Amino acid sequence: MKHFLEENNFTKEEIQSIFENAFRFKENRKARPSLDLKDQSWGMLFYKNSTRTRVSFEVGIRELGGNPILLDLSSTQIGRGESVQDTAKVLSRFLDGLVIRTHGHDLITEFANYAEIPVVNALTDFLHPCQIYSDCMTLLEKTSDSQNPAEGLKDKKLAFFGDTSCNMANSWILAGAIWGLDIWLCGPEEFKPTKEIEDFCRKFDLPIQWHFTSDCKKAAHQADVLYTDVWVSMGCEDQKNERMEKMSPFRITEDLFEIANQNALFMHCMPAHPGEEVTEEVLGSTRSILFDQAENRLHMQKAILKQLVNIQN
Ligand code: CP
Repeated sequence: MKHFLEENNFTKEEIQSIFENAFRFKENRKARPSLDLKDQSWGMLFYKNSTRTRVSFEVGIRELGGNPILLDLSSTQIGRGESVQDTAKVLSRFLDGLVIRTHGHDLITEFANYAEIPVVNALTDFLHPCQIYSDCMTLLEKTSDSQNPAEGLKDKKLAFFGDTSCNMANSWILAGAIWGLDIWLCGPEEFKPTKEIEDFCRKFDLPIQWHFTSDCKKAAHQADVLYTDVWVSMGCEDQKNERMEKMSPFRITEDLFEIANQNALFMHCMPAHPGEEVTEEVLGSTRSILFDQAENRLHMQKAILKQLVNIQN
């Protein structure tokens, strides 16, 4: 059974096909050229809040002819302690696929082990692969003639500021390892990339080639993209004061763009907190492409689902 839990789960050829289809879906959205999920029912099990991921998957499944079913902890037995094993096996008897947003990456892996249907990672504490695929689509759209990330993103410098131990930082590390982006992570020492992502790269023979620094100027120097995410991720609310204090030197400001490449872009996976991880000035500037990132979630989710369905067939 093919699942999409991590950025490296698809082959080079499958990735090329996914990106081409995402661009095609965007160009032809009104014509709805593809009904790959016709008459299929896909579950969407969300343990955490979501706006972009949830709505883009729900709309995407419908636009591909399928039927999305939203499941949450308060209305299902898994929220009352039913096992992952039994839930995965039962849902496999009803559904054609399952999109999951949860905390531990081990939980989604356990679901995938017991499921007899494809499982898609809609975010774990470790990785956010659907976001990275659509962010790379947005970067290609803005900076390259190629629709293939391995060609169009190679050697582009992306500097990520703030919590560099978070799922988005890990996912950028994997994007760099797979597609050759030059990834710089800039934040407090206490929040540097963890051993877990290094071990993951070693396990799958992915190059360990990212840079970590606490020097914002070094990270921003000649960067093509300055990227950030919230400082207080879901589940870290009890560390709010400590995180705000430690990360405030790593806020993205206009000054950093003076050091970056002339046409450098600002990216953020959202939700954004103006005045915290980024200034209002940068958020509202012409460099800021976060709403294009958000829109492309829809086109990319559809392309990922299409690929998974075609592989199973
Ligand atoms: N970027 C992202 O995953 O947004 P949501 O949490 O709203 O889904």
